[in-house]
Amino acid sequence: ARHPSIPLPVDLFGAGRRNSAGLDLADRVVLRETVAAVESPSRLREGLGEGRASSATSTVAHLPPPTPPARGRGDAVARAHAAFPAWSATPVTQRAACLDRLADLLEQHRDDLMAICVQEAFKTIPDALGEVREAVDFCRYYAQQARDGLQPVELPGPTGERNVLRFDGRGVWATIAPWNFPLAIFLGQTVAALVAGNSVVAKPAPQTPRIAARAVELAHEAGVPKDALILLPGGPEVGAALTADPRVMGVAFTGSTATARKIARSLLEDDTRPIVPLIAETGGINAMIVDSTALPEQVVADVVTSAFRSAGQRCSALRLLLLQEEIAGTTIEMLKGAMETLRLGDPADPATDVGPVIDQAAYDKLMAYRARAGVVKTLDAPADGLFVPPTLVQLDRIEDLTQEWFGPILHVATWPAGKLAETIAAVNAKGYGLTMGLHSRIARAADETEALAQVGNLYVNRSMIGAVVGSQPFGGEGLSGTGPKAGGPHYLHRFVVERAVSVDT
Ligand code: NAD
Ligand code: ALA
Repeated sequence: ARHPSIPLPVDLFGAGRRNSAGLDLADRVVLRETVAAVESPSRLREGLGEGRASSATSTVAHLPPPTPPARGRGDAVARAHAAFPAWSATPVTQRAACLDRLADLLEQHRDDLMAICVQEAFKTIPDALGEVREAVDFCRYYAQQARDGLQPVELPGPTGERNVLRFDGRGVWATIAPWNFPLAIFLGQTVAALVAGNSVVAKPAPQTPRIAARAVELAHEAGVPKDALILLPGGPEVGAALTADPRVMGVAFTGSTATARKIARSLLEDDTRPIVPLIAETGGINAMIVDSTALPEQVVADVVTSAFRSAGQRCSALRLLLLQEEIAGTTIEMLKGAMETLRLGDPADPATDVGPVIDQAAYDKLMAYRARAGVVKTLDAPADGLFVPPTLVQLDRIEDLTQEWFGPILHVATWPAGKLAETIAAVNAKGYGLTMGLHSRIARAADETEALAQVGNLYVNRSMIGAVVGSQPFGGEGLSGTGPKAGGPHYLHRFVVERAVSVDT
């Protein structure tokens, strides 16, 4: 069954009065009605409160099944395995052309895709727009990177032989995605594997199967053969069975650190299986360090964006704000005031800053933590719905935060003047290494942070989220991942085998 199409009766981006996200405010009602018109009891309505009682069990069970209806995992891998030789032999320029066509289709279907992101993942309108734009960027960027970097390279032959280095697909890749970037990350890791000459079995998160199904449909429409890209919806058990399949020759995973560990173990379990690469992009305890020279207004704006945008449900999000002691009091007061301006509500309303969190389990976990944490500021949430209010928690010590809380909960601690290196060391000691921020007007502080911070993405005097494909290659180290940078110039080489051919002439 195809997912229902969601026609938008007007162009959301047509002429009219626009808000700061570029959206015509007059259209908000239209989009809300459009989203609500999607058939089936809606998770959007559950997120907003209606049907909350039933959401404790399965919130996605009553969504229309993605296409095709889930087939066996073995069947999916067998089909992808059979499709590999032909797809791998397809010239890289043709594979890249499929990605360019897919980018065009994503742009053509932007409004429908945004509506599904709002309905299924509770994305706000700016975030839903960001999803589609990032997915388009991934397709176009990897298409160009493949044309530039995956063609065979002639190497010197000092004794007269001809030497060539080839970049070939490895076989079937499993791509496993989280719910928080259900289009951009789902598609980004999938098209990277495809353009590198692999066939792919793509498993979306169980919370967000429909946006993935639509993306796969569009990829097929763009020319990717049906069996070179197979959607395999399902939960952890499906993912576990997929990665355990010995015909899978590589895994690109984005999700939690705990799941990455399980996958790493499972890939090594079978002694007869080839040793295959795992690309793992996981979570973080991301800190922003602010010294007394920083511009307070800029700090507060960047903190609010980094910690609370997307309801804090970004791996890159700010979790731990570290204020130099001298400015802590005033900065916290300003931050409390700025938090008051955040508007919680219907994600389909362009004026909403913070929507519901993804599901009942996330809501319960975050609210239980909030109830026992040292809250110094929080907001009122709509009475009914999966709204976790943006919350500020004061810590006595940097060491007190030991895990990633995946929602709009920001922790704050202080550090003494002259102890920047020790403060960075305390953050590094947590073992994660995804994003870090610094706000300072001292050039030496920026240099020192750059030298000492063990993170994949360091942001100085700006927000810490929203890495741009091609400009800010994204990915972490340590407990935050295996290191490859999505949207960076070396990413595609992680998906190939390199083969050197030497011919005596
Ligand atoms: P999760 O680990 O629970 O699930 C991610 C995916 O893995 C899902 O598709 C899930 O079904 C699958 N899965 C679960 N158990 C599995 C197993 N044993 N074998 C194979 N697959 C399995 O993560 P989530 O809750 O969906 O996502 C939130 C997490 O993702 C956060 O920790 C966040 O920081 C992280 N994340 C990281 C990045 C990044 O680029 N570093 C980006 C987005 C999200
Ligand atoms: N790439 C995403 C960001 O930078 C996760 O926010």
